[in-house]
Amino acid sequence: MKPIFLIGFMGSGKSTVGKALQNILDWDFVDTDALFEAEEKFNISDYFARFGEIHFRKKEHMYLKRSTQDNTIVSTGGGIVLRLDNVIWMQSHGTIVYLATSFEQIVKRLYGDMSRPLFQAEDMQATYKRFTSRLPLYESAANYVVQTDGLSPVEIADQLVVQLKL
Ligand code: S3P
Repeated sequence: MKPIFLIGFMGSGKSTVGKALQNILDWDFVDTDALFEAEEKFNISDYFARFGEIHFRKKEHMYLKRSTQDNTIVSTGGGIVLRLDNVIWMQSHGTIVYLATSFEQIVKRLYGDMSRPLFQAEDMQATYKRFTSRLPLYESAANYVVQTDGLSPVEIADQLVVQLKL
């Protein structure tokens, strides 16, 4: 079967839900951020600081393509929808699932997490602006949307199995 791409803002649970789905389906699981870090031998924060976001986005596009395999759940970075070619790639190679999580929930999860250069706890207004500007991009890219607040990763994965008839 064609891959499933999980999209959503930072902290929406793409990796944990992806792994829960992997357990149910016995598919492969790839996290494009983890692949980036393993291949580039850089953590993403250091990479951003050294080379900047534009270079990151170019590499991210390459790792998205590389992750695209049959019977694979691909957890993408929150900014994957910023490039139209990423969206077109995902739409033409698999199914896109948007994990829709409230900003309140995201802040609860990520507060104090220093691993994400674009989640600025010290400037919550800028982070909220980033969040709201991304929402229409996630919504228009997705084939399926799951509202995740109040659900565990396993419950979300179970819901996807039913919704996507897997
Ligand atoms: C980013 C999200 C991160 C990572 C990078 C940029 C973004 O991934 O790709 O820090 O632009 O939203 P997660 O969504 O897995 O945190």
